[in-house]
Amino acid sequence: MKKIAFIGGGTMGTALASAACRGNDPADVVVTDVVAEKAQKLAQALGCTAVATNSEAVEAAKFVVFCVKPQFLDGVLAEVKDTFAACAARGEKKVIVSIVAGIEVAHYQEMLQLDGKNVSVIRTLPNTACKIGKGFILIEEGKGLSYTEEDEAELMQLLREAGGFETLPATMFVAGSVLTSTSPAFIAMFANSLADAGVYNGLLRPQARRLALQGILCATQLFLSEDKHLEAFKDDVCSPAGPAMIGVKSLEDSGFRSSVINAVVDAYRRFAEMKNVK
Ligand SMILES: NC(=O)c1ccc[n+]([C@@H]2O[C@H](COP(=O)([O-])OP(=O)(O)OC[C@H]3O[C@@H](n4cnc5c(N)ncnc54)[C@H](OP(=O)(O)O)[C@@H]3O)[C@@H](O)[C@H]2O)c1
Repeated sequence: MKKIAFIGGGTMGTALASAACRGNDPADVVVTDVVAEKAQKLAQALGCTAVATNSEAVEAAKFVVFCVKPQFLDGVLAEVKDTFAACAARGEKKVIVSIVAGIEVAHYQEMLQLDGKNVSVIRTLPNTACKIGKGFILIEEGKGLSYTEEDEAELMQLLREAGGFETLPATMFVAGSVLTSTSPAFIAMFANSLADAGVYNGLLRPQARRLALQGILCATQLFLSEDKHLEAFKDDVCSPAGPAMIGVKSLEDSGFRSSVINAVVDAYRRFAEMKNVK
């Protein structure tokens, strides 16, 4: 039996399958997609195996990662339900890994009628940087409930090349997920705004892009290196009547902080609604 299968070969399926293939023998990794050519192309690029149907992916591997959009999940679960039951009847252990935003463990258990079957469910939320090994995967605490300590350890081993992991209690999982999974979108907008400003001030676009990203990278590495309040790093840069302090005032005049806070609060609200997405 293969180790891990990915259902859906889009942005996140590609990111996680890439990480799995870096950390394991690609022969142990399976991908599938509703568009067969997409799965075949991905498998070819990673050296792993493409299968034609979602049921074949479930049959093929112990860990099955659902990487489809929330609105397609129920259709996929209905399609693979009998396969999970057949595998359980043969005594095969399966571990379902969800990355689907807003969908709770109970939803998989109800849709697949997993009561008493040999199937674990681990709810996670990765981000796009897993593709290059710099990502972050949040895991919802569920040891002894929906999965075992060994399941979690094995998953972290299989996906170790994706980046870091953190396990959060169920009560905090959505708040954590929103920060790690939506922030790449906000940071891309922020970075491009910095680059636009660089171009406005006379830089060429490639220089402005490179320097804006370098500024974010250098700052982030510094912030992670010291355990002090983030505002203190701002104070380190803002000399009296200096350019950085003038810029800080401009940002405050434009409602920078409240815009960012509102974006994250709105995203959190949307996550909570998504379990009702059909
Ligand atoms: N993108 C992120 O930053 C991010 C972060 C964390 C979690 N997530 C979660 O990850 C999941 C996937 O997101 P994504 O951004 O990777 O979406 P995506 O790029 O649209 O990828 C989903 C893939 O699944 C395929 N698919 C659709 N229906 C299918 C079916 N019935 N059977 C098999 N494959 C099917 C899609 O094919 P078509 O394109 O032909 O429809 C597509 O290739 C979502 O549930 C999302 O909540 C995403």
